[in-house]
Amino acid sequence: MPTQMEKDPANQYFARKQERADILRPMYARKSLLGPTPRHAIPEEGMAPSTAYNLIHDELILDGSSRFNLATFCGTWMEPEAHQLMSETFDKNMIDKDEYPQTAELEMRCVHMLAELWHSPEPDRTIGTSTIGSSEACMLGGLALKWRWREKMRKLGKATDKPNLVTGSNTQVCWHKFARYWDVDAREVPLEGDEVITDPERAAAACDENTIGVVSVLGSTFTGHYENVVALSAALDRLQEKTGLDIPIHVDGASGGFVAPFLQPDLLWDFRLPRVKSINTSGHKYGLVYPGVGWIVWRELSDLDPDLIFNVDYLGGAMPTLAINFSRPASQIVAQYYNLIRLGRAGYRAIHQACQEVAVELAAQIAEVGPFKMLSTGHDLPVIAWTLNDPSLNWSLYDLSDRLRDRGWQVPTYRMPANRQDLILQRIVVRNGFTHDLAGMLLKDIRRHLDWFATQPGFNPTLDGAGYHH
Ligand SMILES: Cc1ncc(COP(=O)(O)O)c(C=O)c1O
Repeated sequence: MPTQMEKDPANQYFARKQERADILRPMYARKSLLGPTPRHAIPEEGMAPSTAYNLIHDELILDGSSRFNLATFCGTWMEPEAHQLMSETFDKNMIDKDEYPQTAELEMRCVHMLAELWHSPEPDRTIGTSTIGSSEACMLGGLALKWRWREKMRKLGKATDKPNLVTGSNTQVCWHKFARYWDVDAREVPLEGDEVITDPERAAAACDENTIGVVSVLGSTFTGHYENVVALSAALDRLQEKTGLDIPIHVDGASGGFVAPFLQPDLLWDFRLPRVKSINTSGHKYGLVYPGVGWIVWRELSDLDPDLIFNVDYLGGAMPTLAINFSRPASQIVAQYYNLIRLGRAGYRAIHQACQEVAVELAAQIAEVGPFKMLSTGHDLPVIAWTLNDPSLNWSLYDLSDRLRDRGWQVPTYRMPANRQDLILQRIVVRNGFTHDLAGMLLKDIRRHLDWFATQPGFNPTLDGAGYHH
C-alpha cells in the first residue's frame, strides 16, 4: 500500500526524476528543507522564503565573482547610496511617465547632460532616450539612419529596397543583429594586414547611394582601440565632393562615450564633427551603473525622423518615447543620474584616470613577464590586450585563461574577426575597483602559471576555446 506521501503527485514526480538525477536536494537540518524540489518544473507547493533564498544563494556561489570578471565592460561596483536609491525605485517602471514624472524628468536631464558632454549644437533641445543597453540604442540609431535614407531616396524617386550599412568587421554583434533583424545589407570592411580597427578610406570606399550610414566604434570590443572618426569624416567629405553622396556617421561609443570626454577631451569624435548624427553609450559600462542602462542622443532634433518619435508632453517639454522595449526598470536611470551629479566631470575623470594608470602599468608588466606581444596598452579605453609571440610553446592563451580560473580570475581568450582570425588574443578590461593591488596579484598568478607550464614538457596547447568574451 503506497503511503500518503508516496501518493502525492509531487513525490511521484520526484521518484521519476530522481533516476535522472534531475532534481535539487537541499540537505539541511530543518524539516522544511529536507525534501527535494524539481529543477526544471514549477514545484507543486511553495517553500518558506528563507528556504528559497538559501537554496538560490548557495547555488549562485558557483558563479564567478563579478569583481574578478576582467572580461566584462559592465559596472560591478556602485556606492551604498546608489544601492539605496536603486532599492527605493525597484518598484517603478520607467515607461509609466505619467505616474512617475520625476523619474522621466531625471531621464531627460541625463539625455541633456550627455548631449552637452558630446557637444551637440543644441543640447537642451535635441532628442535622445535611455535604453536597456547599447544594443537597443544601436538598433534605434540604425533605424533612424534607415528612415532618413529612405525619405531621401523617396524624394529622389529612387528605389528603397536595398539599404546597406557600412561597418568594420570588428563591430560588436549588436550591429550584425541590426542588419539581420531590420533587413539591411551589412557591408563589413574586413581588417587587413596588422589592422585591428577599420580603415576609414576603405569604409568610405564601401559606400554607395544605398548606404544608410557608417558606424564607427569608439572603443573596439576586441582591443579597446578607438576608431579614427575624424579621418572617417574627412574621407566621407571627400566622397561627397566627388560623388555628391552625403553619408552620416553613427558613433558606437558603448564604452568610449563615457571615457573619451574625460580622458581625451581634445579628441574629435563627437558632435563637433557635423557628419556625426547620433551617438550611443552604455550607462552600465564606463557610465559606472550596474547593467541595464544605455543611451542614445541625436546631434539635433532634425536628425531623427519624427515618424519614429511618439511624443508625450507630460513635462511641458519634448519627451520622446522612442524605444524597442516598453517596460524597463527605472532604478538604473535613477542610478545614472546619481552618478552624474555625485561624481561630476571631475569624479568621472578621476575614476577613469585611475583605471587607465592601472591598465598602462599592467600592460608594461605583462609585456615583460612572458612571451607576450601587446596589442593595446590602455591608452584609449583602459583596456589591454595581448597575443603570444612564440609559436613553439607547449601552452596557449586558452590554457592560461583556464589556469587563471584556479584563483577566480576570468580573463578571456578569443580570436579576432573575419580576415584576422589567425590572431588569438587575451584581454583585460580595467574597471572601477580593479586596483594596483589586484593587478599585482593577477601578475603574480600569471607568473606562477607560466612557471608551471615550463615544468610540463608533455603539455599540448589547446588551439581553440570559448568563454568570457563579450
Ligand atoms: C562597441 C560595443 N557596442 C555595443 C555593445 C553592446 O552593448 P550592451 O551590452 O550595452 O547592449 C558593446 C558591448 O560590449 C560594445 O562593446
